[in-house]
Amino acid sequence: MTKEIEVTGGSRVYIGGAEELLQQLLPKKRVIVISDSNIDRTHHDLIAPYEHILIGQGEQAKSLATLESIYRQLIDMGADRSTFILGIGGGIVTDVAGFVASTYMRGVEFGFVTTTLLGAVDASVGGKNGVNIGGFKNMIGVFSQPRFVVCDAALLATLPPREFRAGLAEVIKTAILGDAELFAILENASFDTLRNNKALLDDVINRCVRVKSSVVAEDEREGGRRRILNLGHTIAHAIEKSSNKLNHGEAVAVGLYHITHSALAQGLIWEGDANRIFALIEQYGFDTTLPIERKQLLDAIKGDKKRTGDSLHIIVPMAIGRVADRLYSFERLSEIL
Ligand code: GLY
Repeated sequence: MTKEIEVTGGSRVYIGGAEELLQQLLPKKRVIVISDSNIDRTHHDLIAPYEHILIGQGEQAKSLATLESIYRQLIDMGADRSTFILGIGGGIVTDVAGFVASTYMRGVEFGFVTTTLLGAVDASVGGKNGVNIGGFKNMIGVFSQPRFVVCDAALLATLPPREFRAGLAEVIKTAILGDAELFAILENASFDTLRNNKALLDDVINRCVRVKSSVVAEDEREGGRRRILNLGHTIAHAIEKSSNKLNHGEAVAVGLYHITHSALAQGLIWEGDANRIFALIEQYGFDTTLPIERKQLLDAIKGDKKRTGDSLHIIVPMAIGRVADRLYSFERLSEIL
């Protein structure tokens, strides 16, 4: 059964079968799909009915060069203001498609079908769309809500295990920051049960979307509360900037582990809760070794685009289902990390 969640600005997330949902949700006008060559191979039937533009894969596709190429193709295709852009793919495709749609001819309507777990629980929900520049992630972007996001757990069956696990890092993050029941569900499940039990996965996605959309509804433009979604991400972004060994989710898992250690050392979280977090990260098969030197980590953190002068907001776990937003000076950060 389809689940429907209201996000903000009239945007809605639907959890259910993508093909049927698209029949209902797509407006009766020209639709141009933006996707990537891998999705065209794994989910060709979803893309084939529409005119489409395919981009490359990986973080390097989230670039100004990709945007220019898409704008030029849209112009060649005669796309106009009444065209609807449908992004079908993971976080990279939806970020690029959302940015293109928000800027082409000053903005056209758009929607997403997410084909990765990371996209379903995080990347496609929230309205931030952007691209990278010169190694700085998401430096150029907009806040702009899609008309709809479709999450279909059946599409996730073709995901390689490593990518599925990457999505689970954001699921664990969401449980820690706002859903203690989800945390317990994850403790009682396993990597394999989540991969194979569609009803369970639908429930997990539904819970993650609800937590994220309620946070985004309170603070769409990240002036305050929305920052809690960055739990584990300051360390993760520093790792991603300094090394390409880990994908985003793997880096988030390392970030969650180390920020929990730091919270424990500062006496902010009870040992029992911290141990449950460590155990869950391990249960889902993440390697929590920091893949870079501590100095490299601190230097990269100092370059974080979200810094406020010589300080940075860091989200710390206080209990299962509760976090705090604390402002740390760089000096203090080098003590606690
Ligand atoms: N598009 C991801 C977010 O808004 O958080």
